[in-house]
Amino acid sequence: MTPPSTGDAVAGRHVVLVGLMGAGKSTVGALVAARMARPFVDTDELVEVAAGKTVAEIFADAGEAAFRELERVAVDDACASPEPLVIACGGGAVLDPANRRAISGAGVVVWLRASVARLAERVADAATRPLLAGRQPVETLERLQLLRAESYEAVADVILDTDALDAGAVAERVLEEVAACAA
Ligand code: S3P
Repeated sequence: MTPPSTGDAVAGRHVVLVGLMGAGKSTVGALVAARMARPFVDTDELVEVAAGKTVAEIFADAGEAAFRELERVAVDDACASPEPLVIACGGGAVLDPANRRAISGAGVVVWLRASVARLAERVADAATRPLLAGRQPVETLERLQLLRAESYEAVADVILDTDALDAGAVAERVLEEVAACAA
């Protein structure tokens, strides 16, 4: 299938996906990147490569603040890439004002928004998500949603409600919105 034309206005800019854990940023990001023939970068993966540890190990060994420092570098590096990318940002990256500035200036930013009920269904693998480990996912996600919604909205050019869509359909919507931003 031919991807919608994204035009010159987007050609040199990143597509950045933000949203809470379970929003589908990594799955959708990989699909969008394949369709746009661009590399896909996940800031959690950049952090893991830089640290030589998983996100869960970094939280356990050095704490959340240490993770956030590594995440700031990862967001900065990804956004500064001269090669146009599709970037999935870790769910908490938007809390940092420097990250918000980098993300806002990087290209087309899409908030993949979902209800807490849907997010909770998708984060069954809590072991890889230290902020959910040993906690009630629904209550934790509700708290994070309240705390972060304003920051997601502040950086987003586009808000996509994903509850009723599978990952492929969300990717299609992202491609359409990116094309519309370029028009
Ligand atoms: C976090 C989300 C995770 C990861 C870390 C912290 C958060 O990324 O960065 O566990 O604060 O919401 P995903 O959103 O990709 O799960």
